[in-house]
Amino acid sequence: MKTVKVDGERLWASLMEMGRIGETPGGGCRRLALTDDDKAARDLFCRWVRDAGCTITVDGIGNIFARRDGTDPDAAPVMIGSHLDTVPTGGKFDGAYGVLAGLEVVRRLDDLDVATSAPIEIVVWTNEEGARFSPMTLGSSVFTGDIALDFALSRTDPAGVTIAEALERIDYAGNEPIGGRPVGAYFEVHVEQGPLLKEGGERIGAVTGSFMARYFVATVTGEAAHVGPTLMEQRHDALVGAAALTLEIDRIGRSRGREGRSNAPHIELFPNVRGVIPSEVRLSCDLRNSDPAELAKMEQDLQAAISRIEGERGVSISLEPYFEFGPIRFDAAMSGLISETAREIGLSCRDILTVAGHDAVPMTTCCPTALFFIPSDTGISHNETEYSTPEQCVDGADVLLNAVLKVASGGVVPAPG
Ligand code: GLV
Ligand code: MN
Ligand code: MN
Repeated sequence: MKTVKVDGERLWASLMEMGRIGETPGGGCRRLALTDDDKAARDLFCRWVRDAGCTITVDGIGNIFARRDGTDPDAAPVMIGSHLDTVPTGGKFDGAYGVLAGLEVVRRLDDLDVATSAPIEIVVWTNEEGARFSPMTLGSSVFTGDIALDFALSRTDPAGVTIAEALERIDYAGNEPIGGRPVGAYFEVHVEQGPLLKEGGERIGAVTGSFMARYFVATVTGEAAHVGPTLMEQRHDALVGAAALTLEIDRIGRSRGREGRSNAPHIELFPNVRGVIPSEVRLSCDLRNSDPAELAKMEQDLQAAISRIEGERGVSISLEPYFEFGPIRFDAAMSGLISETAREIGLSCRDILTVAGHDAVPMTTCCPTALFFIPSDTGISHNETEYSTPEQCVDGADVLLNAVLKVASGGVVPAPG
């Protein structure tokens, strides 16, 4: 099977140019959803896809679709997508790489003068990270109907700004109807964000499924009191309860080896003033496991820890689930297509599960979906040092180009150009 290659220098230059928007002193990116920096990133993307001859539409939750027409006007589009928002101290690759690999596919097809029968749409999903507005994978979940539009538009950031207001402010409240149209297939290439591909020396990870993840808010209620005269035995300190709970959450994940994960990454503390024993803490946390039965046991462990801490610390703790994903299986033909395409290009490939949420997760309910990874060269992500080499970025984009061509052209792959 003949294969084609992307223009690696152009891909890298675009990635680095996008990475300058919201660039942090440590070489990472701070581009929170629907901020001025997110708008600048969206505007740059729109300029690039317009220059590539695409037609742009924006839907009511701010998802951007850049369409390169196919020769068959009735064919459902093949989508390539990811996100441009980042966490506050993120890197230049998480999300942006998937979007710009999609752009490189379209640019390369233009260079080669290749027409596909199905249209190709590059998608920028709104608020994937869930860092400014919760929950995560919001735009893609509204597109698939998993999250209601009204609920999504009413989510607020810590300053009380709603998504509806933020979209209006940056001029990305579009009028394209949301979802409800056929999608032929969805492709997302992403950095792994963990160390496994690097450890194993594989250049591509074909994602066959996901961990199961459950997200909660634990509200720890104590009693406000003076920090001085109140005797130690009198206290009901919500922060001490939350600290004990955080250690337990960490222990629960560690006790499952590499199959478990657990986190308590976000805290709200009331009244959060010097002089007053904290009366309430809201601790966002999540548990993950590749095996749903084991995840249920982790949740039982969490409930047992809560009961113990309530008794020991004189606080009460309620646990409310607010989001979950997985376990999902990706379409076997699509993950097989990724492995086969990687092999044809001469790239080693292993099957892998995603532990992180991605827009590809909700998209599995909408159409045949492929998610695949390139190595994270530094082994970590959601960190300014997140890095994949130019060669690693080219590998993923080459697989994307050839796999998309097979699906969008009904199996016709052009001669190398
Ligand atoms: C974030 O990416 C998550 O998986 O929670
Ligand atoms: Mn991402
Ligand atoms: Mn991320």
